[in-house]
Amino acid sequence: MFVVLLLLTGCGSEVKTIYLDEMDLASMQTGWGQNQLNKSVDGNPLTIAGQVFEKGVGTHAISKFMMDLNGHGKQFSAKVGVDDESGDKATMEFFVMGDGKILWQSGIMKKGDPAKAVDVKLNRIQKLALYVSDGGDNINYDHADWAESIITFTGDAPVPVIPAKQESYILTPPTSPEPRINYPRIFAAGQSKPFLFRIPVTGEQPIKISATGFPEGLKLDENTGIISGETANAGTCKIEVTATNQKGTDVKEIEIVIGGKLALTPPMGWNSWNCWGLSVDQQKVKAAAEIFVKSGLAGHGCAYINIDDGWEAAERTKNGELLANEKFPDMKALADDVHHLGLKLGIYSSPGPKTCGGYLGSWEHEMQDAQTWAGWGIDYLKYDWCSYDEIAADNSLPEYHKPYLKMRKCLDAINRDIIYSLCQYGMGNVWEWGGEVGGNLWRTTGDINDSWASMSGIGFGQEQSSPFAKPGNWNDPDMLVIGKVGWGPDLRETKLTPDEQYTHISLWSLLSSPLLIGCDLTQMDEFTMNLLTNDEVIGINQDPLGRQAVKISDEANKQVWMKKLSDGSMALGLFFTGSNIPEEAFSWDGNPQSAKVGITWNELGLQVKQTVRDLWRQKDLGVFDSGFETDVPYHGVVLLKVSGAK
Ligand code: GAL
Repeated sequence: MFVVLLLLTGCGSEVKTIYLDEMDLASMQTGWGQNQLNKSVDGNPLTIAGQVFEKGVGTHAISKFMMDLNGHGKQFSAKVGVDDESGDKATMEFFVMGDGKILWQSGIMKKGDPAKAVDVKLNRIQKLALYVSDGGDNINYDHADWAESIITFTGDAPVPVIPAKQESYILTPPTSPEPRINYPRIFAAGQSKPFLFRIPVTGEQPIKISATGFPEGLKLDENTGIISGETANAGTCKIEVTATNQKGTDVKEIEIVIGGKLALTPPMGWNSWNCWGLSVDQQKVKAAAEIFVKSGLAGHGCAYINIDDGWEAAERTKNGELLANEKFPDMKALADDVHHLGLKLGIYSSPGPKTCGGYLGSWEHEMQDAQTWAGWGIDYLKYDWCSYDEIAADNSLPEYHKPYLKMRKCLDAINRDIIYSLCQYGMGNVWEWGGEVGGNLWRTTGDINDSWASMSGIGFGQEQSSPFAKPGNWNDPDMLVIGKVGWGPDLRETKLTPDEQYTHISLWSLLSSPLLIGCDLTQMDEFTMNLLTNDEVIGINQDPLGRQAVKISDEANKQVWMKKLSDGSMALGLFFTGSNIPEEAFSWDGNPQSAKVGITWNELGLQVKQTVRDLWRQKDLGVFDSGFETDVPYHGVVLLKVSGAK
């Protein structure tokens, strides 16, 4: 019977076809959103330069998909192009690759370019890969269509290659049971304004914390390390803090600066958006604050618990007062709970009539809202442009400045320190003027998501903002996308691989970015916790010099970034980004990829030999005469501290 069948089918040589949209595309990676069958990534008909296609796959650069043909492929045909729903500046390049080689490439395609036809012979190809690059300019609204994509084959149908899931691995040594006074070691507050700072200390409890040299009016709780009160003594004073437990003692100096700028190091904490989206509520926020203390994150410097959009009531009171909605029954009590733990509470609003989530904004109620927040005890405001588009007269700089200056004045008029976080996605090069309109930090880009393309596009795209970062004024490349995220009630594990997560935290530390955790803190695993509690890495982020790293070298798929530190040393990130070279975007033999990445002391302007320390492993690697080179995993990093050797 079997022989007869084989004869009838010509020994399996019958030519068959399969459309790309008929395959299991679970392993197709997309830079943003979800791949769509027979639709664009936004769910519209696949449309390239006005031509509508019934069949195909809508994806988003950077996109990758690999399949096993086992030599049975004959032909791959498609019509590819930039979907009409893309951003006006969208560019991308389509690649068809076989066994490590480029078989066809589209050249850079722009929005409005007619679809290009692909017809590639697949004779004897084992592995076929489809790749869409970002065209070399990041992934903003790069909606890519593989329309009418069809594979002709004989024998067995192509099988998607599911990339092996990288197992997480922990590099940070366990937190010492001995007392450690961590970062930040500098804190600023207003003159004669409520003062609250929890000294970041880790170690086996109970720990007794004492300090000398306080400005008048402040007091320390020796059991918790919480300093509170208020002082009229403007200026800088250095307090000597001693932390003692059964295992030993640590002594460190902490600077308290009264009456100047706030946020002298990048804010560290949590924001509700990347996990809970609009489903945030009081209980979840309170739980986050409690976990900060219980898990030890507060001891590693995390202080801000920030509520994002979704807390506002549908209507103001008759007097125009802004209220919280039913999910936040008592905002004042919540702030008290958070303060009781020595932590700070942040809130969110928009200068427009509506927030991005459609809730009430502060338009024409700015002063009243600032007073409401001060009354509740709010310590941080994220002020998000959103519907202010309807109000702004045009896209000029004065119009960009206006709403932020207005709220600045209101915040100055209340008797409370409120960190001011501007959010307008980088419009008008906000890094050039965000400090002038009174911002302590400002978002430099659109929203981050948990894909490599998004995180790396944002993180490695921060070069031009670098000169503008300084104590009190920080570039904000958006919140962290590690752990369980989801932007809504349903959460899932981040899509970033463990190596990509090491890159994320290393890069954000080098960039002096705010470290705002975006995941559900109640579900953090050991790996996520270890990513967030390496004090040598945090020390790079919280370095009081406040420099932002600059790119030293960018060699196709490798980058080296350097941040100058207050003690005269340098932090270095050696990254293997792999993103520009399509051939290297895939592992053709199924093994994990890595590359040698290095730097010479000459390139860093250093003349003498240097001691090199691996910050994730917290281990000295030795003294090196003229430079350093090491293996870096795909999309991963080696984070170093380099200091002049004696
Ligand atoms: C976006 C903002 C996000 C989040 C969201 C809330 O504009 O970039 O970070 O705050 O609004 O609706």
